[in-house]
Amino acid sequence: MSLQLNRSTFGDPVNSGNVLSRNEVEKLLNEWVLNDRLKLHMKQVAHLMKSWAKEKEELNDDDVWKWEMAGLLHDADWDQWPDQHCKKIIEELEMKNVDPEIIHAIASHGPEHFGVEPETKMDKMLYAFDELSGFIHAYSLMRPNGYEGMEVKGVKKRFKDKAFAASVSRDDINDAADRSGISLDELIGFAIFHQQQS
Ligand SMILES: [Fe+2]
Repeated sequence: MSLQLNRSTFGDPVNSGNVLSRNEVEKLLNEWVLNDRLKLHMKQVAHLMKSWAKEKEELNDDDVWKWEMAGLLHDADWDQWPDQHCKKIIEELEMKNVDPEIIHAIASHGPEHFGVEPETKMDKMLYAFDELSGFIHAYSLMRPNGYEGMEVKGVKKRFKDKAFAASVSRDDINDAADRSGISLDELIGFAIFHQQQS
């Protein structure tokens, strides 16, 4: 099964600035995503995107929502249409005339799988937080106190344990960190701190 998108442009520039409301996003998620774990994953990634956009990029509220929206919707089609993953949500957002920046971020959240390179900071951070967020969540579930007292070095130790959260691609996490230009330690520290509050 190939998920390659075989496209390099997404959405229409004329729709720049167009977003969905929070209610519209929630409605779409409720209809498309029946798996609560997947919904939680997207919410966690969205929280990291929002927090990064606000704190590190110091973006205005409208732009912060774009980052959050990309996080909330990036895997929306994975539950019911895994063979159309990414393609289906992209087409849906194009049909709804959503800002091309948001669609491009979703299209490039797995360059290896979809064949689309992350270009903007939003693209790169979505790619960076996606697998990392899932990994840290899995780690929290096996710790007696969850996120409490979790340290960067503990997460990195688990990285080396290939049997742990085996489905999470360490290569993707390292590649994403490289492309973002932010050290893995900083990304992990940021994700631990913010994910425990989400
Ligand atoms: Fe994801």
